[in-house]
Amino acid sequence: MRLSDLSTPSLLVDAPAFAHNVAVMGEAWPGTTLRPHVKAFKSTSLARELAAAGHPAFCAATPREVLGLAAAGLGADLLLANEVLDGARLAAMASADARVTVAVDSEATIAAAAGAGIGEVLIDVDVGCLRCGCDPSVAGRLAELARARGLHVRGVMGYEGQLMMEPGATKEERVAGAMHRLLGAHAEVGGDVVSGGGTGTYAVNRWVTELQAGSFTLMDTDYGRLGLPFRQALSLWCTVVSVHAGPSGWAVADGGLKALGMDHGNPSVVGHVLVYCSDEHSTFAATDGGMLPSVGDRVRLLPAHVDPTVAYHERMYVVDGEEVLDSWAIDLRNW
Ligand SMILES: Cc1ncc(COP(=O)(O)O)c(C=O)c1O
Repeated sequence: MRLSDLSTPSLLVDAPAFAHNVAVMGEAWPGTTLRPHVKAFKSTSLARELAAAGHPAFCAATPREVLGLAAAGLGADLLLANEVLDGARLAAMASADARVTVAVDSEATIAAAAGAGIGEVLIDVDVGCLRCGCDPSVAGRLAELARARGLHVRGVMGYEGQLMMEPGATKEERVAGAMHRLLGAHAEVGGDVVSGGGTGTYAVNRWVTELQAGSFTLMDTDYGRLGLPFRQALSLWCTVVSVHAGPSGWAVADGGLKALGMDHGNPSVVGHVLVYCSDEHSTFAATDGGMLPSVGDRVRLLPAHVDPTVAYHERMYVVDGEEVLDSWAIDLRNW
């Protein structure tokens, strides 16, 4: 199949860029020191590529992701890095053919996990992200409570999400501060695991025993601004469906905000200048001295945020130049 055979809008993964990203991250965080976060790509096919590259332990954000990985035979060591109170979903994960660990940060989440038959937990610690995670001062008490309920406490996790986009100069120092909180909690909790980090802190977080990064696989233009050594592998392949010629003219591509996660900003249009996105359309202008395309031409849009973009689609097509090599189902969508 050729790129020109694909209907639009279609999500594309550039195969050489993806391979480069996996190799670069694997060099820095080899084997199980990397626990790839599937929330960014939501695909067991992509996860299988990471397992083949030596990273068989995964991080997930939803029970659906955990259950899908388990059903695909990728359940060697799955961490649900998120709080869940739904007894039915917890019980489904407990009986899945997988090693499942869940994050807990309160008496209620410990009771829910223990009541549903979950065997292993991490104490989730707030490291400044204003999201889930207990205060470090209560982490030890929660670990004792979990053990008293029969749970195996593997250690701690703490996601320093607020520092992912921090610019270079202060990043290392602020990550050190966040990880100091996490290590303080770990001293009270015990266990082998200190889990945290992401694409934006992969080069400066020296404190976690495993990195929870996911965006590095496909990348987006928001992370692209940081100048990390990862390449933009994800794009939205669109057809130009309308052109208004003239010096202040514009063209319209057939992918808009229903095909692109826009919370981190507008997508970029390769070779052109984006004007705005609406439901089904992206309107763009020519660059200075550039030409508008013709109706029927194809353009690539580069998403600003990978996770929600992927979640809008049912599959991604793996391409190398003009050739479509493979198609990966986005089979871990929904909750
Ligand atoms: C709990 C958790 N860990 C790690 C990550 C890191 O992911 P990324 O690779 O996008 O930085 C995220 C992203 O939202 C997350 O929610």
